[in-house]
Amino acid sequence: MLNRREFTLALATPLLGLAQPSALKARIKLDTERIISPIDPKIYGNFAEHLGRCIEGGIFEEGSPLSDSRGYRKDVMQAIKDLHVTQMRWPGGNFASNYHWKDGIGPRDQRPPRLEMAWGTIESNRFGTHEFLDYSEMMGMEPYICTNLGTGDWNEVQQWVEYCNQPEGTAMAKLRKQNGREKPWKVRYWGLGNEMDGPWQMGHRSAEDYGKFALEAAKLMKWTDPDVQLIAAGSSNFGGNIDWVGWNRTVLAYLKDHMEYLSLHTYVGNSANDYYEFLGNSIELNARIKIAAGIIESALATSPGHKKIYIAFDEWNVWYRARGGAKGRGRNALEERYNLEDALSVATMLNTFVNNADTVKIANMAQIVNVIAPIFTNQQGLFLQTIYYPLQLFAANARGTALETFVDCPTYTSKKFGKVPYLDVSTSYDQGTAIINVVNRHLEQEIEVEIEAQDKSFGGKFEIATVTGNDIKAENDFGSTKIKTVTSTDTASGHKLRHRVPAKSYTQIKARLS
Ligand code: AHR
Repeated sequence: MLNRREFTLALATPLLGLAQPSALKARIKLDTERIISPIDPKIYGNFAEHLGRCIEGGIFEEGSPLSDSRGYRKDVMQAIKDLHVTQMRWPGGNFASNYHWKDGIGPRDQRPPRLEMAWGTIESNRFGTHEFLDYSEMMGMEPYICTNLGTGDWNEVQQWVEYCNQPEGTAMAKLRKQNGREKPWKVRYWGLGNEMDGPWQMGHRSAEDYGKFALEAAKLMKWTDPDVQLIAAGSSNFGGNIDWVGWNRTVLAYLKDHMEYLSLHTYVGNSANDYYEFLGNSIELNARIKIAAGIIESALATSPGHKKIYIAFDEWNVWYRARGGAKGRGRNALEERYNLEDALSVATMLNTFVNNADTVKIANMAQIVNVIAPIFTNQQGLFLQTIYYPLQLFAANARGTALETFVDCPTYTSKKFGKVPYLDVSTSYDQGTAIINVVNRHLEQEIEVEIEAQDKSFGGKFEIATVTGNDIKAENDFGSTKIKTVTSTDTASGHKLRHRVPAKSYTQIKARLS
């Protein structure tokens, strides 16, 4: 008996049951002149929140033999470097909405521990502004600070910018120097609060109230340092009971002259244990980006020549197991373990960001260590989760310009998303090298892909990196890496390159074009 998804295949295989079906086939075409936009490297960012063991026990573990003299875990630093993280968002998330930054400066032993109400712990404040910004500098990551527009006030936010960015001559600059940092860090990226549309947020406001409040904060921040780039809190609740469109419109109406980015969040999950529905989520992500881009355009329509406003997808990932209940609060909160299907879902989300490179200019996978994260530690070491590998491949290689990609391939029918192509593809091009990212969503069938370079020729050897496995539920663990990147090479010449992408896989092809 055929299920609905196999029906497409059956149509192409009249003798099904009597003969082996021939390999599924797909065509991809690219042209290096069909440019979507330069890819902003900041789409390969991550996020570190004071939540569970992300900071304490993740990035930072004082007294551990694995840490340096300042308390930074050296093994984690190496894993972050190898991931090519371009930008780090901090200190939250929900945590940010009751974070008072002055608690986290000065001698560590004198900093006040505070009740942490977002995630139900006590915040030691031993990791604060200096620890974060010095870490970002050391790691070559662009820091992005999300301010407290929940329980915080305008003065506090303004003084944080001044503390970080004012070279000298003010009380805040003097205080920074007293605390051991002579030069300002010159932090460019600042968030105007986090998920302010959500009733779960400390200091949650209506769209109108947030718009008015954030506008005054933004003015003070820009008057303190005109170079700051501000990210306003868009609605985090697409399709839920919050008016997503209305919130974003109102925020833009108040803030469009003072903001550079609209922050959006997305978390997907497979609670229903339906692989094909789960893997279709990037269809909705794509739609959401297009709708948000339209809302931004309509907000700017009456202001010809207005600077562009981009989207910052500053929280995104798979997250559904360690959500709510005991796994959603406390010291071990959000310790999601990832499997192969999650890695494929992550790859489709990254494809979507590349395919929308003209509007999505910041994206931060939430988060970086232990908490819904690609890196997982204990006191003895770490392992790399399945989702680490696609993110690493994209961040290392999918740079330069995003190209429009033509894809002709078989499809399946999803209850939620309609017709979903088995292949999910993006292409980037950088100095003569094309990177083609292909997720094959098909659970059983490999697909023979013919890639045509319309305006150039393939130059011989090409590299293939594949993330796949026999079991979509396979996870990595300490001492057991079931899912990782496997590399190989092949050759192609002329306009066409052929490669078979395995069932349930993510493949990155790196080919020279001339
Ligand atoms: O990343 C975990 C949480 O998800 C963040 O704190 C919050 O912004 C979002 O709801």
